[in-house]
Amino acid sequence: MATDERGLHLSTDSADAADAFNAAMRSFFAWRRDVMQHLGAALEADPGFVLAHALSGLFLCGMRQPAAYPIARESLAAAKRGEAGCSDRERAYVAALEATLDGDLFRAVNCFEEVIENHPLDLIAIRLGQMELFWLGEVAWARDITGRPAAAWSEAVPGYSAFLGVRSFALEETGDYEAAERLGRRSIELDPGDCQAAHAVAHVLEMEGRLDDGVEWLDGLKDGWAEANHIVHHLWWHRCLFETERGNHAGALETYDRFVRNPQSPLIQAMSNFFTDMQNCAALLARLEMRGIDVGGRWEAVADDYESWIGNHTSALTSPHCALVFAATGRDAKLDELMADLREFAATDRGALGPRFAVAVIPAADAAVAYQRGDYQGVLDSLLPARRLLWQMGGSHAQRDLFFQIMAYAAARLGRADLLAILLDDVRSIGFAQVDQRASYADVAAA
Ligand SMILES: [Fe+2]
Repeated sequence: MATDERGLHLSTDSADAADAFNAAMRSFFAWRRDVMQHLGAALEADPGFVLAHALSGLFLCGMRQPAAYPIARESLAAAKRGEAGCSDRERAYVAALEATLDGDLFRAVNCFEEVIENHPLDLIAIRLGQMELFWLGEVAWARDITGRPAAAWSEAVPGYSAFLGVRSFALEETGDYEAAERLGRRSIELDPGDCQAAHAVAHVLEMEGRLDDGVEWLDGLKDGWAEANHIVHHLWWHRCLFETERGNHAGALETYDRFVRNPQSPLIQAMSNFFTDMQNCAALLARLEMRGIDVGGRWEAVADDYESWIGNHTSALTSPHCALVFAATGRDAKLDELMADLREFAATDRGALGPRFAVAVIPAADAAVAYQRGDYQGVLDSLLPARRLLWQMGGSHAQRDLFFQIMAYAAARLGRADLLAILLDDVRSIGFAQVDQRASYADVAAA
């Protein structure tokens, strides 16, 4: 009987297919870029391998590109053809894919939860469930989904370092920085190339305002990222945040040019509009401009890639970043198109994301545009009432902090010390320490 590396049954008679599947999962857990090649090899060895079809579809959806959805539907059809001969666990992945394609992301999460409850060593479901919830902003749920199976895990279980990385990040986003850092650092001791753990600890250091530690942490790990997927750009983006917060703007720009948005990067050449890249670039350029730094032609250099996101509603956090870029580059027609499309989606979508666009994405996008146009009252009118709902955009506290920085900037420009005091308290209550010592807030507070 074929099994995965944690002893979970795989419905295939092909040893080659099982081997390729296990290689794919190792790559998935490690954030390497060759996951789909290994899954393709698994399906070549056994074209009826249902779990490999289901995961191909789920990973394609995870790219958050509408062009991939028809291919994911083919994966779903292939998986359904063989699911009668599968385990309940494998059928749950098929159901999760179907729910994802229907836009019913919470139903997909329910499928992963059931798998985890019955198979606490199913790291795929833990990882997919945590990631989906992260992008929905449901961090407490993600903490719980990674916590319930924790008792079944130990260093004797293959993939333990990856489990610790996932758990660490879930704990960090719910404010348990001590446990998150401890688990993340243990994960790195076991596997220095674990990008999830590197990322989780970077978030702890960001939240705690340990800016020098953050640079040192990432620089100590960067040699292990050679095979990493687009997460590597985001890890370098975190280094840019540390640099920006400690006032080394030139260093942040240099890191951006070399590692966050280097057009020579094979990853960017293969796919230049990956959703986290779209978040990274716009957010950093805006953060630097708010500090008075001239970022030159960097907005224009990336703007074309954001145009491909008009009509793409798969990533709530990404859309306001598109508005920021179109307003920064004077692409008014594209901006109008984007905003009309976002409003239409928010008004009509009945899946998990439509309501989130209505309460968080559109106010953030409106504020981004107002900020770029120097309409600081407009920023506050759009975002102050919505700021406690911004978590519904998904992503991390560190990512959404951009919108608090924009509000604080606007409040300072308008001389609204009262609002600034409220906002700085908000930022502290979200979990940021040493707010007064961060360049992002120190200069506006001083103003
Ligand atoms: Fe991050």
